[in-house]
Order: sequence, then C-alpha cells, then structure tokens
Amino acid sequence: MDELARKAAELSGRFNLGVRTEKLSSLSAMGTGGRALVVEAETLAELAELLKIHRLNDWPYLVVGGASNILFPDEDVSFSVLRLTGTFAALQSSGSEILAGAGCSTAKVLALSEKAGLSGLEMTAGLPGTLGGAVRGNAGSAAKGAAELASSLEMLDADGRALRLGPGDFQIGYRSLALPTELAGGIITSLRLSLIPSSPQKVKEDSSRVLAARRANQPRERSLGCVFKNPPGDSAGRLIDQCGLKGVKSGGAMISPKHANFIVNVGGASSRDVLALADRAADEVKVRFGHDLELEIKTANKRGLFIKRL
Ligand code: EPU
Repeated sequence: MDELARKAAELSGRFNLGVRTEKLSSLSAMGTGGRALVVEAETLAELAELLKIHRLNDWPYLVVGGASNILFPDEDVSFSVLRLTGTFAALQSSGSEILAGAGCSTAKVLALSEKAGLSGLEMTAGLPGTLGGAVRGNAGSAAKGAAELASSLEMLDADGRALRLGPGDFQIGYRSLALPTELAGGIITSLRLSLIPSSPQKVKEDSSRVLAARRANQPRERSLGCVFKNPPGDSAGRLIDQCGLKGVKSGGAMISPKHANFIVNVGGASSRDVLALADRAADEVKVRFGHDLELEIKTANKRGLFIKRL
C-alpha cells in the first residue's frame, strides 16, 4: 500500500468524511498538479479532529479553497489537502455585516452583499475561489484587498483549538495577511465582514463595472490570476509586456497575449512549464528594468511548504 492509500485508510476509518485520492490538476484553477489525499471536513469538530491527527502523525497538510492562487508540484504530494465544505459554506447578513464560513465562494458572498445593499466587496467581482482564501491572501484589486473588510476571524490553531481574532491581532499588507506566529498552521474557519450600507442597485452597478473591466483586461483561460506582485509604483504586467513576452510559450503554458502578468494553460500545461515562464519573465524584467519581481502566486513543494522562488 502506498503512503497516500495508507493515510486514506486511517482517516476513512475515523471519520464519516469525504476522503479520496485525487489529481490536484482537477482542483487547480491552472489545471496542474500530481495526486494528493483530499479530505473534506463538514464541521468544526471534524476539522479540529483532522488537525489533531495530522499533528500527532506529523503529517503535513494544506487548506485549499478554490486552488486559484497556488501552484501545486507536478509530482504526487505527501501533504493532505483539507477542504472546508458543509457548515463552512454558511452565509448570512446582519445589519451592515456579513457572517460567512471560510468555504463560501467569493462570488456568493458578493451576491449577498448586492442583495443586502452592502458596499465593500465590489472589487472581488470576477475573483474565483473561496472567501477564506481571498481573505488569507488579501485578494482584490490593485488598491484594495478583501482582508481589509474583516472585523473578526474565527480560527482553529494547529492543535484544533478555536479562537477569535480581532483587527488588532492581524496585519494587512499588499496581498498579505500576517497572523500571530503561534497561529502558523492555523485555519480561518469563518469571518465577519464589516460593510458600508448602500443600495442594492448601487452595489450591483459598481460590481458589474469591476467585472466588465476584469473581463476586458484579463484572460479567460485557466490561470492563477496575476503571477507577480506589482513593484511599487509600477505594474508587473506592463513590465513583462515591455519585454515583448506576450504569447511566449513553454510546453502547454503561455504568457497571456491579453495581460502579461497572467500565465495561462493553453492545453496540457505542467507546473514546470508555468515556472519556466515565470523565471524567464522575472529574468528579463530584471535585466531590462532592474526590478526584482516577487511572486504573487504561492508555489508548494511536495511537503506542502511554500517555496520562495526567483
Ligand atoms: N499593462 C500593459 N500590458 C499588460 C498588462 C498591463 O501595458 O500586459 C498596463 C495597463 O495598460 C495599465 C497598467 O499596466 O496601464 C496596469 O494594468 P491593470 O490595470 O491590468 O492592473 P494590474 O496592476 O496589472 C492589478 C492587480 C490585479 C487586479 C487589477 C485590477 C496585482 C498584481 N494585480 O493588476 O490583481 O485584478 O489590478 O484591479 O496587484 C491578482 O491579484 O491576481 C490580480 C490579477
């Protein structure tokens, strides 16, 4: 029995959960990645138990929402992919707040804010993935990120203990949310978003405008969104474009002809193809403009650790 099958047998025996071995390419927005053990937790109690088992056995894990900002390795991985389903998709508005499970799709949360006439989430229009993932990576527009709206975060720490964080407990940066060090390995399970009362019509109009701009400027093929962070005062897309790299291919991956900060899967791409293009873009931007581009996407290794490349 290989390692994945052994782990699957152990977990299936303990839980009434979805435990399966799956190709990460079928989860990934990019469509790349080897096989992994995927475990779906439906309740807080199940997730806490799962974390404890992983901790006890020293099994690595990654919580994956929409897999829309993470590049998995091409080979089979030894980390478990934990997914939040069931009760983690709970969603409701209350006054000017939205309470949402971390597993809610960002699109559904935006739709509720439109219906309730609550402003703040419009910049997420067209973003794939889950609210938990969007807040964890502070995803959004060039100027604003979803984490800025969070007035509290419910989390489980790596031992499965529940705790609540207020805005004073985390630091928000450009595409980043820094949590206290003792929460490394912790998981955001639900969030409270503080929004501004407006009207359903105005919120809908503004989010439609954001969506139209995204559709006009960004590719529709499979991708992980912007590959690099923008260097201060400039745009990574503009710099890569200026290097003449639009349309350049490596295997089944291509630097998008529509927006040069996107690498798209044009058929059968591997993660290695994506990284080859990212390396090339970073090298050429460095030589031509002297900027060190920093990856915005996260690249995981076989054990689920994020590796800083370039
Ligand atoms: N540009 C080019 N060529 C390109 C791409 C862009 O010349 O191939 C120029 C544009 O014409 C424009 C400038 O660069 O003058 C900025 O481009 P854009 O408006 O598309 O914004 P961006 O800085 O490339 C940022 C975020 C996007 C977000 C958009 C819209 C980052 C790294 N990117 O892109 O976020 O959707 O603004 O708000 O912060 C993401 O995080 O995954 C992402 C795509």
